[in-house]
Amino acid sequence: AIGALWGMHSGRLRVALVTTAKYFLPRMLGAFCRRYPHIDVQLEITNRAGVVARMRGNEDDLYIMSLPPADMDIVVRPFLDNPLVVVAPLGHAAAGRRCTLDELAGESFLLREPGSGSRAAVDRHLQKLEKSLRVRLTVASNEAIRDLVASGLGLSILSRHSLAADPADDGICILDVEHFPIQQPWSIVHLKGKVLSLPAQAFIGELVQTSQA
Ligand code: PGA
Repeated sequence: AIGALWGMHSGRLRVALVTTAKYFLPRMLGAFCRRYPHIDVQLEITNRAGVVARMRGNEDDLYIMSLPPADMDIVVRPFLDNPLVVVAPLGHAAAGRRCTLDELAGESFLLREPGSGSRAAVDRHLQKLEKSLRVRLTVASNEAIRDLVASGLGLSILSRHSLAADPADDGICILDVEHFPIQQPWSIVHLKGKVLSLPAQAFIGELVQTSQA
């Protein structure tokens, strides 16, 4: 039991997360690191395609993403909401009322790059609705997209987590569009055959507990 206890309080934890999870995960990780100061944590941040590649190579203990691959033998535990919202520059004509996607057909959209989980969720959602958007620019950064939207270059669909508590602080607003937000919760994922280390089990416990608080 002492060995198990020791194993719990020291050791190494490797976590890979998608770029969009960096807005909330480090805060949860901070609390975990204060509680277990002797656990050495290695964090990798890349887009969904990069996280999936790391998972195929069994490089980490845990993976945080919102769109787990359907073709892998994995355990998926959803733990937090990840609404993807339509954003526009502050003062947009459709702000403050309900509108349809068809009303936005004339707008240009700036979307994340192929390989992004957010982008994959948007593409999948549009396909289901049998709608398409005029994609003007593809950018591999939520922050850059947010600022380009604020500057009036077009609209976007971004994770609510990538926006300020009050999006107006960054010069943007969230539009109330039919069929949005897209709901795609964040999940903790690991390979099914992987024996989870005690630090990994403790980290799962921490994420589940803090996201319910
Ligand atoms: P992304 O990931 O940062 O690759 O868009 C988000 C997600 O997996 O939903």
